[in-house]
Amino acid sequence: MEKKLMHLFEAQQFDLNTIDALFSLATSLEENPQPVLRGKIMATLFYEPSTRTRLSFESAMLRLGGDVISTENALSVSSAVKGEPLEDTIRIVSMYADVIVLRYFESNIAERLLPIASVPIINAGDGAGQHPSQALLDLYTIHRELGRIDDITVVMVGDPKHSRSVHSLAYLLGKYKNIIINFVAPEELQIADDLLTYLDGHGVQYTKTHDLTAAIGEADVVYRNRLQKERFESETLYEKYKEMYLIDVPMASRMKQGAILMDPLPRIGGITTEVDVLPQAVYFKQARYGLLIRMALLAHMLA
Ligand code: NCD
Repeated sequence: MEKKLMHLFEAQQFDLNTIDALFSLATSLEENPQPVLRGKIMATLFYEPSTRTRLSFESAMLRLGGDVISTENALSVSSAVKGEPLEDTIRIVSMYADVIVLRYFESNIAERLLPIASVPIINAGDGAGQHPSQALLDLYTIHRELGRIDDITVVMVGDPKHSRSVHSLAYLLGKYKNIIINFVAPEELQIADDLLTYLDGHGVQYTKTHDLTAAIGEADVVYRNRLQKERFESETLYEKYKEMYLIDVPMASRMKQGAILMDPLPRIGGITTEVDVLPQAVYFKQARYGLLIRMALLAHMLA
């Protein structure tokens, strides 16, 4: 039985039945969109920059017949400038909207917001924490493009330490069978131990390396992520590694037949435009799947 989610703060909240139900809903909404959210209002409250996440949530809501109120730059234009705490802003916006989609610059927002939330809240990225709707659309992309999620090897290359997309996707993959994850990054940007402990507990095999050339040929999925510059303590460290894992045509050609190259985007420092026409490149489709998954998520939580 699918479990109805009240809030969405982290990827671990999804169970397999709910994921299956959301995938079916996304696919049926693609063929036959229904105005199931007429009369509902979604507020998007973004304290960090975004293109895809905010606009795809807003487009999803409008396509389902709902309405949207929005602050695209909450840190500089909302009362946050005057020092209003997040908790107060959420209390107020909850009176105006039926669901809040929030992007914030610190992690662990669930701890702060669960005690006061009176309408559903969707975490659209909390600092270097999690980005669960991104992980769900990433998983849906794998499901649509490979036709399976079990029995895959995933290379996650870039910045596993700071990337909330990597964190949430790794947590979700932990729910599937025979998963191997190879984290590719310089040692300073490698994945944190708490996530590895979770993967151990869920039977996921993993390795860590800095060598993309050696790792890329084994992957069914290459999940590239830009270095999260805004989370770096030193500019020097960023400059040192910023183009370390450039994926150009020769690198992409090392991927095995049928493997896919994903990226939550933006592609900064990562994938050359010549790669876009290769059959492996699914990152623009991934953004389109994001719209469908966010329609399914909103319909599931609100209809
Ligand atoms: C990601 C994010 O903001 O965490 N982007 C996105 O939501 N599509 C990834 C990133 O910024 O690198």
